[in-house]
Formats: sequence, structure tokens, C-alpha cells
Amino acid sequence: MELNILTICYLIGSVTFILGLKMLSNPATARKGNLVAAAGMTIAIIGTIFLYTDEEGNKLHNYGWIFGGIAIGAIIGTLAAKKVKMTAMPEMVSMFNGMGGACAALISVVEFNHLQHSTTIVETFEGISGSGYFARQLSVSPSFLLIIVLGLIIGSVSFAGSMIAWGKLNGSVKDFSFKGQHIVNILLLLVILGLATYLVGWMPSNSQLIFYVIFALSLLYGVFFVFPIGGADMPVVISLLNSFTGVAAACGGFLYDNKVMLTGGILVGAAGTLLTILMCKAMNRSLLNVLIGSFGGGAKASGPAGAKQQGAYKEISLSDTAVVMSYANKVMIVPGYGLAVAQAQHACHELEKLLAEKGVEVKYAIHPVAGRMPGHMNVLLAEADVSYEKLLEMEHANEEFPTTDVVLILGANDVVNPAAKSDPSSPIYGMPILDVELAKTVIVNKRSMKPGYAGIENDLFFRPKTSMLFGDAKKVLQDLIGEIKNL
Ligand code: TAP
Repeated sequence: MELNILTICYLIGSVTFILGLKMLSNPATARKGNLVAAAGMTIAIIGTIFLYTDEEGNKLHNYGWIFGGIAIGAIIGTLAAKKVKMTAMPEMVSMFNGMGGACAALISVVEFNHLQHSTTIVETFEGISGSGYFARQLSVSPSFLLIIVLGLIIGSVSFAGSMIAWGKLNGSVKDFSFKGQHIVNILLLLVILGLATYLVGWMPSNSQLIFYVIFALSLLYGVFFVFPIGGADMPVVISLLNSFTGVAAACGGFLYDNKVMLTGGILVGAAGTLLTILMCKAMNRSLLNVLIGSFGGGAKASGPAGAKQQGAYKEISLSDTAVVMSYANKVMIVPGYGLAVAQAQHACHELEKLLAEKGVEVKYAIHPVAGRMPGHMNVLLAEADVSYEKLLEMEHANEEFPTTDVVLILGANDVVNPAAKSDPSSPIYGMPILDVELAKTVIVNKRSMKPGYAGIENDLFFRPKTSMLFGDAKKVLQDLIGEIKNL
């Protein structure tokens, strides 16, 4: 009876994960989707804690440890999620993902130790290098051991890589690479795979030693894998590591014959992979290019002094901007990374409402990789209660630019750079962009003429239709609102 209820709990968990994921694909249902999946996860966890029994009929007993862990994790998670700034979201995702990878690797360690103690001792008391270490011959199914080792490798790489990504994003870890590092990485990976094959295929008497060597090398590989990748490319790497964690968790599902863990792991693995592909496509870069590093290669490429200035640009005053926008029929706002940096989403929504009161139609053009993580702008604007119907995806926005009077670009740069269409030598050539120039007037708000993430000049700023409105996005918007109110 209990087993049946537990199976139903797992079924509910699996179904809610799929439903939740589906709902996450639309901003209007995303929050609910998150809650639905979280509720399913809670049911699966509670069910496991109270209803799980092993083959001998034993229930879980160490409730103090279990609930202690849950309480500590819940407190840290809640505080971190409440405190985090929108711009620091990728690093938090990275940290949480790393914890998932660590769990998957630790499951493998625990299960390997169980094997050590439960399998027939074929060779006992075999000293290794005189260290006093005693080995046992494993006698288990190779496929079971394979899953353990896979979970160990993938989980460790994901954990170590995510921690480096987290450190890079918060500035505590600097980019580090040496000549031939990619070769060293490939060799390291080959050694890990070789040792894993030896362990699983031959189950030698020194299995335990080999297992822990694989563990250590996988952690090292995770560090080396992420070290040379430019800090600004971290979101793509985090998404990739996220898919690794999913696969590692799915290995745990296999080990425990736990369907909900398997489903959850596979969903995370597949979603992370798709997201990685999507991000690469939206930047028109191959995954290899991201991993080996090209544009966005960290501080050097995206640093403030990265670009030379060319030609002349014209500036527009706040009062002129207020007049141009108030008398427009249709205004399109293009949010970018700078809007998130300035935390200007609420001021932006206020401007939108003020213009709407004056009869101006206001919409937002959302580029798929505007900001620094997938859906960054959607989440940011949702936080300020901007209506989802006003957010246009790139294709729809591009259709509407020809009928738009004023485009107001707020802290966006690469996603409106015409070089992506016209300059084959540009690192962003081929990346789809927002065709803001199809509108009658373009106003660009940023603090200076410095480049964005790709570290390259933007010719849009020098074009006849474009005017620059310099300043911090939040301050500029607040002042602009004041000007419009005084008109
Ligand atoms: P960026 O090209 O990075 O440009 C942002 C601009 O905001 C900068 O030029 C900066 O100019 C300005 N800015 C910074 N702080 C500001 C502030 N307080 N007020 C006003 N402006 C400010 O951003 P984007 O156009 O959103 O493009 C995103 C880039 O990130 C793309 O290249 C994309 O490929 C990359 N990327 C995105 C993702 C995802 S999934 N979203 C993942 C990885 C990489 P000033 O310094 O002059 O102010």
C-alpha cells in the first residue's frame, strides 16, 4: 500500500516537472510553473522520507540529519534568493547548480562505498604500495558500476566548473589560462575516461584507489575546463554545466531505481542542452567557439577601454527627448544589460504608463540574449509589473519598427549593432539583431561611448537617425519622467 502511494507521489512529481517546464516557456505562466514544479518536488521528497522502504522493509530513520539538512538548505536558499540582485542572478544559478553536481557526485561516492562493503571479498588484505591500505575485489554488475562512475565524473565536473564560474562572475576568480591548456584538458579527460573504463571493465583489486583518483581528476578537469573561458561567456557555460548536473542526477535515478529522480534529471539535462544551443544560436556562435573562447573573452574584450571611437555622434537633451516621446504615436523601448545594471525597470514602467496616459502606444522589443542570461529582460520587466502583452519577441518587434516613431534604447548595445548584418569581419556577424533603424528616430541611453559585452564599436551610435542620451539609465528615466510631467 505504502509503495503504491509512493509511486503515485513520484508520478505526481514527474508530471508536475513536465507541466512546470512547459509553463516556464511563457512569461505569463512562468511563476506558476515554478510553483507547480516545486510543489511536485516537495511531494516527491516528503513521500520518499516517510514512505520509502528498502528490500528488507527498512524505512528511513535518521530524520534528525534529514530535516536538519533540509532546514539549513531552506534557510540559506531563501535568504540567498531574496537578497540576490538581478545582475547577480547568473552567479547564484551557478552556485545552486554546483550544489546539484556535488550531490550527484556524493551519491556516487556513498554508493561505491556501499558496494565495497556489501560485495564478496575476493582478495582481502592486499597491501598497496605498503601503505597499509586494504583492497577488495568488486563483484557487481558492470552497468551498475558504470552508472556510479558516470555520476561521479559528471557531477564532479559540474560542481568544480560551477564553482569556478560562480567565482568568475562575482570577481573572486580571475581568468587563468596557459599555453596548450586545451591540450592538457583533452589529455586529462582521456586519462579520466581511461581509468573509468579500466575500473568498470576490469574491477581491479585497487578499485577504491582508482575511484578516488577519478574523483580528484574530475574535479581538476572541472576547474581547468572553465578557467580559460571568458568571464562574460559564463551564462552559456553555466547552462552547459546545468545540463551535466541533470545527467548526473539521472544517474542517481538509475542507481536507486527512482523514477522521479530519473525524470527530473533527464528534464534538466535536456533543458540545459537546449538552452545552451539556443544561446549559442542567438549569438551566432558555435559551442566550441564559446568553450575555446572568442568574443566576450572576459575582461579584455568587454573592458571599458576596449573600443576606439569613430566619427561623430550627436547628443539629445532630456527636454528634447521628453517632447519627441510625448508627441509620438508609437514608442518602442529596447532594454539591455545596462537597464539591469541600473535597476531601472520600475522607472521604465513608470515612463511607459505616463506615455500611455498621453495616448502614446508603448511596447518593448526583447532580444533573446539581451542582458546576461536567458529571459533576463523578461524577468526584470516582470518584476516591475510590466504587462507581458507589451513584450515583443525579436521577430515581431522587427516587423513593428517601420511603424514606430521613437525607439528608446536603454543600456543595450550588441543586440542593436548593425555590424551583425553588414560587417563579415565583425565577431558578431550573423547574430540576429533588433532592426531599430527601421524606426523614424533612435535614442540611445548609456553612460558613455564604451562598448558592450562583445567589446566592439557600434556604428548605430554614429548614424544620422541616432541621438545619444548619456547617463545612468535609472537617473535618466527619472529625470525624463519629471520633464514629461512638466510639459
Ligand atoms: P551589452 O552589449 O553588454 O551592452 C550593455 C550596455 O549598457 C553597455 O554598452 C553599457 O554602456 C550600458 N550600461 C551599463 N551600465 C549602464 C547604466 N547604469 N545605465 C545605462 N547604460 C548602462 O548588452 P546587450 O545589448 O543587452 O547585449 C547582451 C550581450 O550579452 C550580447 O552580446 C549577448 O551575446 C551577451 N550574452 C548574453 C547572454 C544572455 S543569455 N542574455 C548570455 C551570454 C552573453 P556604458 O558603459 O557606456 O554605460
